[in-house]
Amino acid sequence: MTEPSLRWGILGTGGIASVFAEDVLRLPGHEVAAVGSRSHATAAAFAERYGVPRAHGSYAGLAADDGVDVVYVATPHPMHFEPARLCVEAGRAVLVEKPFTTGAAEAEKLAALARERGVFAMEAMWTRFNPLVRRVRDLVAGGAIGDVTAVYADFSITAAFDAGHRLWSPELGGGALLDLGCYPLSFTWPLLGPPASVQATASPAPTGVDANTGILLGYESGAIALLHCGLLGDSPHGATVVGTRGRIDVASPFYRPASMTVVRTGGDPEVLTADIEGHGYTYQAEEVARCLRAGLTESPLMPLDETIAILRTIDEIAARSGQRPAEGATPQTPRQEPTDRGPSLR
Ligand SMILES: NC(=O)c1ccc[n+]([C@@H]2O[C@H](COP(=O)([O-])OP(=O)(O)OC[C@H]3O[C@@H](n4cnc5c(N)ncnc54)[C@H](OP(=O)(O)O)[C@@H]3O)[C@@H](O)[C@H]2O)c1
Repeated sequence: MTEPSLRWGILGTGGIASVFAEDVLRLPGHEVAAVGSRSHATAAAFAERYGVPRAHGSYAGLAADDGVDVVYVATPHPMHFEPARLCVEAGRAVLVEKPFTTGAAEAEKLAALARERGVFAMEAMWTRFNPLVRRVRDLVAGGAIGDVTAVYADFSITAAFDAGHRLWSPELGGGALLDLGCYPLSFTWPLLGPPASVQATASPAPTGVDANTGILLGYESGAIALLHCGLLGDSPHGATVVGTRGRIDVASPFYRPASMTVVRTGGDPEVLTADIEGHGYTYQAEEVARCLRAGLTESPLMPLDETIAILRTIDEIAARSGQRPAEGATPQTPRQEPTDRGPSLR
């Protein structure tokens, strides 16, 4: 007997909601059953574009829709918590866009609620489920390159300055760290675990959010991670994992790689490739389906405790680079005052 389709609800109708809907619609055994927006007109337009049967003019309406198994929360980061809470309260599983929340405290609250209600919740850190990123994790765990000594990863883009855009607006959770820095951090985490030391420096945009951030993490093993995120220029979007017996070069973009090279000391480089489906978001949708069908309330590949721990490190990076105060962290770099000149590298 074939299993019933997984019925998705899409919450928020912006850029990534469309891309994710397109990927879900490629998958057998998945359907987009409903959409929720702040306005009925936007919900209806989205529903028409993607052939979605039900359009709700409020997030609460979608949360209460019993014809939905799992809600994908695709609002700006500061607006993740409240709609996700509504869904969990209604017993609806949630896949919440990255970063899960804007800080560890909110993530802890949402995770506690989901656990109390026995409801599935996961951060939509889609990179985790890419076949080659999973392979990096397995190769490292299997000792293919010895002990990891360093990870380098960068995600910096050229984003035209617009004080009202979510990337630049503090009210909409702007800044490179929350939007892009979460990728190199989440890539590094399964390879090295929690860092023993955190150093960071950031340049602010005129709006005060971080425009260019460098991160140096130290580990008890002696390993380091050197990470960069920014909004002021296109970086290579590469990642390299260095070990005592070789290294893995993940092709750009490391958050959606289609190839990587394993260089074992003294051996010939081995190139591994993968045909990436759609926009690259099908893998996380399939992981959600797998977990729900298995009765899991968390994904072992992206567990809530790891989401929380990464956000705790993000809080610390923000504090140490003078972006915002965080509990228990003492800023080491004085805050640079924003100027009205537009973003610049100083
Ligand atoms: N996984 C990825 O590759 C990826 C890529 C891009 C973004 N993201 C994440 O997805 C989230 C949304 O990003 P996006 O680029 O899709 O943003 P976006 O295009 O600005 O869309 C966000 C949507 O959220 C809703 N919303 C609720 N409150 C809002 C408010 N106060 N201001 C503006 N919109 C509001 C709106 O939908 P309604 O009007 O329908 O309510 C809006 O269309 C962010 O957390 C981001 O980090 C992930």
